Amino acid sequence: MKVTAVLGSPHENGASSTIAREILRGAKDAGHEVVVYELNKMNVKGCQACGSCKKNNIDCVLNDDLKPYWKDLHESGALIVSAPNYCSQVSGDMIMYMNRHYCMIGMKEGKGFVRLHPGIKLIGVFSQGNGDKEAYKDNYMWYLNDFCNRDMVLEKMIVHTRNDSLEPDSEIMKEAYEAGRNL
Ligand SMILES: Cc1cc2nc3c(=O)[nH]c(=O)nc-3n(C[C@H](O)[C@H](O)[C@H](O)COP(=O)(O)O)c2cc1C
Repeated sequence: MKVTAVLGSPHENGASSTIAREILRGAKDAGHEVVVYELNKMNVKGCQACGSCKKNNIDCVLNDDLKPYWKDLHESGALIVSAPNYCSQVSGDMIMYMNRHYCMIGMKEGKGFVRLHPGIKLIGVFSQGNGDKEAYKDNYMWYLNDFCNRDMVLEKMIVHTRNDSLEPDSEIMKEAYEAGRNL
């Protein structure tokens, strides 16, 4: 199956991206096709609230670097999202990206419906300075729930803190590889 990953850190080799790539290594080893979007290298706008998606039940019409993403998402069996924690929440870029999934809720006779095929497996990776893994869990869940509201199924959430080693044989890297391998 196709596995799409959206990496949110401005640091190419930051903690969240390193862990997400380890998930993808596992996914590749399991025979999956992997597509990666690095948000910080892309030209991506926030939702313009133009309403085109709702009026016509179509993917976002914005002509920016997310354009090919919608097709990948429709074809994917799994979505990996990774982000640093900025000011207690997922980074602003990643919230902007999440907002764009407004187009995945269509409208028919005044009622909303999900335009994505159900059951896309979702993995969230978050990195924070705070050593308490539980400190921002509710905030991360708020973020992931927006994807679950589009009929995705939360498979795993990995929280990295300053206390976690990113050495190849560390617990968190093993957890990441296995998560990808088991997709
Ligand atoms: C603007 C900014 C705000 C931050 N706010 C928090 C915070 O509220 N809580 C926290 O634990 N870490 C905070 N951090 C630290 C980052 O979450 C931490 O360095 C993380 O490991 C970065 O992830 P990355 O390596 O994937 O980019 C902040 C860092 C920056 C640059």
